Amino acid sequence: MTAINRRRALTGSAAIAVGVPVLAACSSDDASTAADPTDSSSPSPSDASPSQPSADGTQTPSEGSAAALASTGDVPVGGCFVATGAKVVVTQPTEGDFKAFSAVCTHQGCLVESSSEGEIPCPCHLSRFSLEDGSPVSGPATAALAPVEISVDGDSITQA
Ligand code: FES
Repeated sequence: MTAINRRRALTGSAAIAVGVPVLAACSSDDASTAADPTDSSSPSPSDASPSQPSADGTQTPSEGSAAALASTGDVPVGGCFVATGAKVVVTQPTEGDFKAFSAVCTHQGCLVESSSEGEIPCPCHLSRFSLEDGSPVSGPATAALAPVEISVDGDSITQA
């Protein structure tokens, strides 16, 4: 093997070694888990990509219509569910009390994860946010997740 070939091989290995943990940490049913870090605003219809497919049954918001985010059964009591297509995290701090926030971490823009462990976790640098108000509980994030208006109709949770 020549020096160039060995260098290329090592570079390729490093790229794989770096890429695999990032993909594993951010894995979900949506390939676009990392968002623009400068976009810490609340998701709005213009934030969603209309061409983005949704494997979890969620729909991207469209102008003038409510977007289905989740079923109430998707959201554990004391936990949260991420509607990846809409980039919204729905929480249920206490039974029957649903809240929603932008799922885009205020640290560097990764999507937070679904959890049943009492907080909203970000897999990238381990920030954790409150189920109640989206405020940072621990980790490098210092700003709260932006609130998102939702409505609950029966077992359907939609973005208002
Ligand atoms: Fe969420 Fe860094 S992007 S903790």
